[in-house]
Amino acid sequence: MRTTAGWRADGPAEKLNRVSLQRRDLRADDIAVRVDHCGVCHTDLHSINAARGPVVPGHEFTGTVTEVGADVTRFAVGDPVAVGNIVDSCGECAMCRAGQENFCHEFPTLTYGGTDRHDGTTTLGGYAREYVVREAFTHALPAGLDAAAAAPLLCAGITVWEPLRSLGVGSGTRVAVAGLGGLGHLAVKFAVALGAEVTVISRTPGKLDDALRLGARDLLVSADEARMAASRERFDVIIDTISAAHDLGPYLRLVAMDGALAQVGHLGPVSVDTMDLLIGRKKLTSAGSGGRPATREMLDFCAEHDITADVEVLPSSQVNEALERLSRNDVRYRFVLDMSDLD
Ligand SMILES: NC(=O)c1ccc[n+]([C@@H]2O[C@H](COP(=O)([O-])OP(=O)(O)OC[C@H]3O[C@@H](n4cnc5c(N)ncnc54)[C@H](OP(=O)(O)O)[C@@H]3O)[C@@H](O)[C@H]2O)c1
Ligand SMILES: [Zn+2]
Ligand SMILES: [Zn+2]
Repeated sequence: MRTTAGWRADGPAEKLNRVSLQRRDLRADDIAVRVDHCGVCHTDLHSINAARGPVVPGHEFTGTVTEVGADVTRFAVGDPVAVGNIVDSCGECAMCRAGQENFCHEFPTLTYGGTDRHDGTTTLGGYAREYVVREAFTHALPAGLDAAAAAPLLCAGITVWEPLRSLGVGSGTRVAVAGLGGLGHLAVKFAVALGAEVTVISRTPGKLDDALRLGARDLLVSADEARMAASRERFDVIIDTISAAHDLGPYLRLVAMDGALAQVGHLGPVSVDTMDLLIGRKKLTSAGSGGRPATREMLDFCAEHDITADVEVLPSSQVNEALERLSRNDVRYRFVLDMSDLD
């Protein structure tokens, strides 16, 4: 085993403490990554709040290869790399064969809180100075992307990229993004770069200037019932990134005939009045993370269009402050931890 340092919560809603962590020795198809930057995802907060045991969060990080296993061919020591929220899958089921490892029938191995397919240990995430990961689930970080601002692409980015692509968003598509946070601001940037006409739906009127700067045409305040009513059936696609449970009815009523609402933020049971789907033959869908081909496609698209997240970079020692501010919606629009203070 190898030893590194990281940040761990030892129970629900506990503060994270700096601890020393064990990583496995490299298997033949593994690489060791020095984690330089790790994004702080709202899922990290959910995971800490629901923790039934120790949790080391972090599932969107960039770093540098420090060692490679005997069979590794795609990476060499010193290469800049990126890792998202999936680090393994069965490789054989129909989903894996289709390049949708995120939907693996044996469930993909999550970057933290997952179960390693070989030794059965619980995975520990990227709030750490080192991570050991299969080469196959490591992505080359395209040249030209800032390593800190690119880290959130690996969870927040891919999670909104796949539904935008699968719903055919392109030139002239009328897209609304509900919830302007980590996922939401990247959804706006992607949809704008894909040629869509984008609106933000937010409970925070003060985000209007940001929405416009990100390329949206307007911001609809979700509490403004008159404007919501006037926006009936206005959007072909709504990407709903809201982090809390909420009534889908007011959002479904904004979807145009044969359009779709993709709920990717709050995951869990929802109740829907089928009349909100029936009137206009609307579709309700969801998605999470992405497969390896789509992740590569997204990273190439970001390099081509110069897209990264709007980040506030903090030393990793301020992880508790970052999580606390995220819980208060006080982030524009992603915290990224600089892990170098763990040396
Ligand atoms: N499907 C997946 O695989 C996947 C992957 C990553 C994250 N997630 C989930 O996606 C959600 C968003 O993550 P994130 O990192 O983007 O979070 P975030 O940065 O906190 O953004 C969430 C946004 O939702 C809005 N919001 C929050 N609480 C709300 C409430 N009670 N009512 C209405 N709006 C509310 C806020 O936007 P406004 O101020 O604009 O209203 C907030 O900025 C989280 O639940 C996370 O767990 C899912
Ligand atoms: Zn995430
Ligand atoms: Zn599989």
